[in-house]
Amino acid sequence: MTAQVFDPTEFRKALGTFATGVTIITTRTADGAPVGLTANSFNSVSLSPPLVLWSLANSSASLEIFRKAEHWAVHVLATDQEELSARFARRGIDKFAGLDVDTGQGGVPLLRGCAARFECRTAFQYEGGDHLIFVGEVLAFDRAESAPLVFHGGRYAHATRRDAPDVKPRSAHLAGSFSEDFLGYLLGRSHFRFFAQLRAALDAQHLSDMEFYVLSTLTLKPLLTASELAEGMAGVLDDRRKQALDSLVTAGLAATRTGDGIAYELTAHGREVALGLISRAKALESQVLERLGPDAPILKSLLNRLLGEIDPTAAALWQAPEAERRRSAG
Ligand SMILES: Cc1cc2nc3c(=O)[nH]c(=O)nc-3n(C[C@H](O)[C@H](O)[C@H](O)COP(=O)(O)O)c2cc1C
Repeated sequence: MTAQVFDPTEFRKALGTFATGVTIITTRTADGAPVGLTANSFNSVSLSPPLVLWSLANSSASLEIFRKAEHWAVHVLATDQEELSARFARRGIDKFAGLDVDTGQGGVPLLRGCAARFECRTAFQYEGGDHLIFVGEVLAFDRAESAPLVFHGGRYAHATRRDAPDVKPRSAHLAGSFSEDFLGYLLGRSHFRFFAQLRAALDAQHLSDMEFYVLSTLTLKPLLTASELAEGMAGVLDDRRKQALDSLVTAGLAATRTGDGIAYELTAHGREVALGLISRAKALESQVLERLGPDAPILKSLLNRLLGEIDPTAAALWQAPEAERRRSAG
């Protein structure tokens, strides 16, 4: 066989167009030490008998251990296990440090929180160029209802369901129209429908959406200067910010402090009202996201990206307290 010489980068890129899940394969050494690595070469082979395969680079530090191992386990990673994937793709570290593991057949360490786990016994090994191919007989498996982590084009990705072909337009009048598929319409209508469900709680406090927005922003820091507020709300409430703040002060929910310049803080009553409304909003969020199921983190991640693209300054105000909290916690 003559080896075809390809441009390695192009060849990798072409192979990378094939989207895969991500797995971690684990086993143990003869003296019981846990071993594992990230692999996306996993695939199903046969239903009856139940067989799966994966391939291991000849350069892997664990080659000899897997070659000799009778048992190993495949863990199909869930979408929130990207960090675990990165950890098991690194060399020269204790990959299992601090992890809670179960023990499977042959004493193989089993990781938790995965989309599925297959406990296997080596059935065949084949030389495959610069990799060794392992075919395993599945002895046991379990699975959870979690969305899978995906690898595509050299990067981690989300898997999301496509709309079923029979999804009906939300309104017969909108079918095929400009608005039906227009981002502004989808965002705007989602926003209004979401806040409509908070309406009664806001009405009970005589607050408009704008006032709630300013009130909840004031919970971010004990004292927000007028310029911090202006910066945080730039492009969103430019004109109405001052008006909303004045109403909050008049209603006794916020107070002004003068020093170097004007700063705003919540009164004790304002904080109580704000936290009550925020917890209502969070409960509403959980209900809505629960209906989206595994697509919920994908929606959030896409909206965050969208916000980063169309409003790069938005992150600053919201991230600062988070960073401060982490610093003081650490
Ligand atoms: C998403 C992803 C998929 C990978 N798939 C494989 C694979 O199928 N086979 C393999 O040998 N290495 C694969 N690797 C690389 C190994 O995880 C990496 O080389 C690891 O350091 C090997 O560990 P070891 O040398 O301790 O055995 C993959 C890495 C990533 C991030």
